[in-house]
Amino acid sequence: MQLKRLSLTHFRNFARLDVQVPASAVLIVGRNAQGKTSLLEAIYFLATLNSFHADTDRQLINFIEARNPLAVARLQATYERNGREHQLEIRVIKEQTRNGVERSRKEVLLDGAKKKANEVIGHFQAVLFLPQMLQIVDGTPRHRRRYLDLALAQVHTQYSENLSEYESVLTQRNALLRQLSENGGDHSQLDFWDQRLAARGAQVLAARFRAIQELEQAAARLHHGLTRGAEVLRLSYQPSYDPLPAPAGQRMLLDAPTDRSGISAEKIETGYLAALQKARREDLARGTTSLGPHRDELRFLGNGIDLGSYGSRGQVRTALLTLKLAELEWMHARSGQRPVLLLDEVLAELDESRRADLLERLKANSDQVLLTTTDFNLFTPEFLESAARWEIDNGQLT
Ligand SMILES: Nc1ncnc2c1ncn2[C@@H]1O[C@H](COP(=O)(O)OP(=O)(O)OP(=O)(O)O)[C@@H](O)[C@H]1O
Ligand SMILES: [Mg+2]
Repeated sequence: MQLKRLSLTHFRNFARLDVQVPASAVLIVGRNAQGKTSLLEAIYFLATLNSFHADTDRQLINFIEARNPLAVARLQATYERNGREHQLEIRVIKEQTRNGVERSRKEVLLDGAKKKANEVIGHFQAVLFLPQMLQIVDGTPRHRRRYLDLALAQVHTQYSENLSEYESVLTQRNALLRQLSENGGDHSQLDFWDQRLAARGAQVLAARFRAIQELEQAAARLHHGLTRGAEVLRLSYQPSYDPLPAPAGQRMLLDAPTDRSGISAEKIETGYLAALQKARREDLARGTTSLGPHRDELRFLGNGIDLGSYGSRGQVRTALLTLKLAELEWMHARSGQRPVLLLDEVLAELDESRRADLLERLKANSDQVLLTTTDFNLFTPEFLESAARWEIDNGQLT
């Protein structure tokens, strides 16, 4: 996978940017608040059609442009995939509903033809490391689920459709639960929603179980290298509905995550449906759905200890780096393409030997990597020699 050209119009603090992207590593240098992170965010948006960063797409539209009632932010990329060149264009368009509420919608064109967002996610592939993403390790379960979902959406064509369908069924089931518990009524109305929830939820779970298993294999090896053998990293997925029977009488050991990747989606669906029906009374009392992928947890264990609760800053940071490099390998194995690697301030907080190790590894593991920094003294002379350098100043590239 290779990004060859990027154009932005009214995206964040870029009024207009048009740049050829070299095949080598690119070092994006600039003072604070000049647009380094925004540039990486733009490239990642082309892959996931989602910003890890913004709460709504509207925040991506340039402030000044956004005063215009018909404001549009435009992202265009030319990239090579499987030896063929493609063009992707995404427009984020501001709209006003009839009652004056502002929102945005996306228009997507792949090689000139209009597409649905779900059809295009992952056509261009990228892996992004942002310091804010440390929350994947030490933030809430929602951060971790979102991480998995964004990664899976890029390699699994059906995943985002299954997930968004699951979420919309979930909203409707919850609304019905509340309605039944407030006003009473025939509980069998839930059957229809239970079935649809189980069907989509099982697909989501099966994909996540498999991804966890594959990611963990890559992560374990990479982490061994990055910590020079000092720490063993494990990924432990803890489902609210577990297709495996609970071990009798004993709590599962934290450092022995369970492999659920061999369980078929059909089997998950049957078990999940039964569990939903069993939990119905409780769900009615609470007015919300207690079981399913929206309630699951993922934990990162360093030498058997939950890094989210007990990890040091450096441990959390190294675990996240491992995870991102594992994601890259995993996407490569799954799709035959090496994603473009986007690293924001990745060297900060690492000691000198870890910085050198990481830079070495980047050269070996990625086709194309874009890194930001406020200080290029952090980089080794060999790396600086091989990398192109972009200076960024107030949304302008030089
Ligand atoms: N929609 C928007 N329109 C215009 N400017 C924006 C918009 N969203 C963010 N900005 C501004 O763009 C500037 C660049 O932000 P960005 O996060 O890319 O900076 P950075 O170069 O990564 O800085 P740092 O080194 O501090 O991380 C910031 O001043 C930010 O407030
Ligand atoms: Mg930044």
